[in-house]
Amino acid sequence: MSRIAYVNGRYVPHMEARVHIEDRGYQFADGVYEVIAVVGGRLVDGEPHLDRLERSLTELDMAMPMARRPLRVVLAETMRRNSVHDGMIYLQITRGAARRDHAFPRGVRPALVVTARRATMPPDPDAIPGAKVITAPDIRWRRCDIKSVSLLPNVLAKQQAIESGAYETWMVDDDGHITEGSSTNAWILARDGCVVTRPLDNAILGGITRQTLIRLAHGAGVDVVERAFSVDEAKAAREAFMTSTTNLLRPVTQIDDAVIGNGEPGETSRRLLGLYLAYARGETESCD
Ligand SMILES: Cc1ncc(COP(=O)(O)O)c(C=O)c1O
Repeated sequence: MSRIAYVNGRYVPHMEARVHIEDRGYQFADGVYEVIAVVGGRLVDGEPHLDRLERSLTELDMAMPMARRPLRVVLAETMRRNSVHDGMIYLQITRGAARRDHAFPRGVRPALVVTARRATMPPDPDAIPGAKVITAPDIRWRRCDIKSVSLLPNVLAKQQAIESGAYETWMVDDDGHITEGSSTNAWILARDGCVVTRPLDNAILGGITRQTLIRLAHGAGVDVVERAFSVDEAKAAREAFMTSTTNLLRPVTQIDDAVIGNGEPGETSRRLLGLYLAYARGETESCD
């Protein structure tokens, strides 16, 4: 089946989908994006993702290219045309095409692109393998809270992980605290038994999976503390894991050369993944 993309008001074959060479996303990374999981034909946390999209746009003084209701129709139609039952939706908005000049152009229509693709859900919590992460200095800008398409430092961090035989890089700020992964939020089960993740600030993206998991964990009586943690604390943690729309929850069993716990995905990580999967499948509450 050939894939279909939505580009500025038209559904076109993926192979033929084009934006202009002077699109500001291409020239300046002047745009934002979202990735939303599709499980069982429904968006997971569609509204929180669109809330974050609106916030990212506002921070860059850009307007939503269309109201939320028609946008949701475009998302649903892109899913339908690509027969995506389980997978993800990618949505990107740039400031549009204009003669190259750093300052914002006036009167230019933002460019909206939506694609969808199939993906399989992760294995069940009892079978999920552990992942290795490495640590590296966080060389990004000071507005990581904006989900901008300017991802070059993240790309370099992920590539460094791959070249080291690892799955992800956890980035480290000037104080020795872990900020987040190249495309994931970072978590540990600290020695005192609390699940810990960094508080929201400009140094990390406010992950929607992170937000939902905090709520689900509290509901299940699992304490989550939002505080910064150091590389040393992470290496000595009982468990570690990462979260994102595409990974859901992935246990971490090695950080650099340090083995976490007994080297197997921990009980709390697997329990939280189970809670999240049940939520994403719509078994515990409606989530779209
Ligand atoms: C830098 C970064 N942090 C965290 C996340 C996780 O966010 P979410 O759970 O909304 O996918 C992502 C997702 O792409 C990311 O790029």
